[in-house]
Amino acid sequence: MLDVDVIIIGGGLAGCRAAVEIARTDPKLNIAVVAKTHPIRSHSVAAQGGIAATLKNVDAADSWEAHAFDTVKGSDYLADQDAVEILTREAPEVVIDLEHMGVMFSRLDDGRIAQRAFGGHSHNRTCYAADKTGHAILHELVSNLRRYNVHIYDEWYVMRLIVEDEEAKGVVMYRILDGHIEVVRAKAVMFATGGYGRAYNTTSNDYASTGDGLAMTAQAGLPLEDMEFVQFHPTGLYPVGVLISEAVRGEGAYLINALGDRFMNTYAPSRMELAPRDITSRAIAREIAAHRGINSDGSEGGKFVYLDLRHMGEEKIMSRIPFCWEEAHRLVGIDAVHQPIPVRPTIHYSMGGIPVNTDGKVRSSGDGFIDRFFAAGESACVSVHGANRLGSNSLLECVVYGRRTGFAIAEFVQNRKLPVVDEQRYVQGATKQMQQLIAQKGKYRIAQVRQAFQDCMTEHCGVFRTEAVMRSGLQQLQQIQQQYQDIYLDDKGNCWNSELVEALELQSLLVVGEIILTSALSRTESRGAHCREDYTMRDDENFLKHTMAYYSPAGIDIQYRPVTITMFEPKERKY
Ligand code: FUM
Repeated sequence: MLDVDVIIIGGGLAGCRAAVEIARTDPKLNIAVVAKTHPIRSHSVAAQGGIAATLKNVDAADSWEAHAFDTVKGSDYLADQDAVEILTREAPEVVIDLEHMGVMFSRLDDGRIAQRAFGGHSHNRTCYAADKTGHAILHELVSNLRRYNVHIYDEWYVMRLIVEDEEAKGVVMYRILDGHIEVVRAKAVMFATGGYGRAYNTTSNDYASTGDGLAMTAQAGLPLEDMEFVQFHPTGLYPVGVLISEAVRGEGAYLINALGDRFMNTYAPSRMELAPRDITSRAIAREIAAHRGINSDGSEGGKFVYLDLRHMGEEKIMSRIPFCWEEAHRLVGIDAVHQPIPVRPTIHYSMGGIPVNTDGKVRSSGDGFIDRFFAAGESACVSVHGANRLGSNSLLECVVYGRRTGFAIAEFVQNRKLPVVDEQRYVQGATKQMQQLIAQKGKYRIAQVRQAFQDCMTEHCGVFRTEAVMRSGLQQLQQIQQQYQDIYLDDKGNCWNSELVEALELQSLLVVGEIILTSALSRTESRGAHCREDYTMRDDENFLKHTMAYYSPAGIDIQYRPVTITMFEPKERKY
């Protein structure tokens, strides 16, 4: 058994930022970061457009209050406003701290950090490193981990969160290289395991975004919050679904339908292409449904719209958003200097997650906490995004709440002892699970079941939702869960058995998918990214509250907890 002071699961921005803060606060602590890929391949590396902070480098009239208001309005008033206040007040300081760590932000002519426009933000406050901001930040944080001597367990898959007696005691993990199983005991456990984009068939997310941390938390009997709020990014590259950054619109690109119209004029005339993502994604989906989408030969009635950059000119495209140009060129053969890019909404982000307070402590209920367990980043729900996240607030959340959670953990573990864990029990349980998966002679391949599941979620819990469609999705999902019991693996070995890892990941996805569908069915209103065609209005009287979904194999129990409102009373949301 491995003993550490702190174990952090997830090597992306939130996990790395927390580890740096713990090491800075108490360099004597023994910190382990576990990641199923190498940390610099975590999905944070794919974040493109930027990180919001009111530095006021290009817009002196900006303020943290304006940032907070934009965030709360963008969230359709579901965000907890105490958490939003912390997010927006601390933003300038964490960005300057990143700069001091060595992050290569793009610059204004006078040398200060450049800032650009982003959807739903009323001022130009998004700091960026061209269109590779996540890459620039993550690389610097990982270098810092090495400097602080944090132990990185890369390419280990965490299979189980150990929760006993209402406290988290550690994890069980599997070394992908050779199948070795290790129990880790810790004074504090932190999850920063990212989202679940792979629950859908078209996503901007990495292959590793399979919701493992969410599923492990749910399977340990803890609630997940607001899981019905699934973000579609408006501009996924068609047909592959990878991200074409909102920065492209921030720098001035237009959205055009088959008639050549800038159709956002109909949906958000004051913000046009820079409306929040829920509104822009619905607008694109509506244009496509109304046969104003475009086909590959340019004719009407197709499945995408155009993102038109041509008026921006080569110099601006290549200096501000070179990676987006490259993606379109490499993946679909479009030269965006001369041709419009085909786009349509793609699954991008999870607003919900593991419920935490503003110190990253995980909630066990509406008002209780589970001891020794912390979470931050996309896998957590603090909740600063409510029903719809604004672009460039997610890197910010990772850094602000990664730092706060790291600091809280460093204080928490002082004078705490390691918990008692029965190592053999957990090793035997995990070994048996792996052996059974390898030995079972089922009739379905993993890829077949996963595809059926992703299609089921995409068809039944997408941009627009209804009770009948979601109920039929849940029924289909139950059949797919049966199929999962009947899978077989071709690879029977221990050495780099990626098929085994995929089987575990699929199990996580199935748990997460059921929670998303059940939470979405229970919320009989439309709010932010949760758009019900059978309940088209926001219903503050009955649903200005957070969903808390408790999973068990027998079914999911839905409860609610109140929203914290401190600064801005809910109003109708218009752009
Ligand atoms: O469009 C983007 O660059 C994505 C940014 C974000 O999700 O915050």
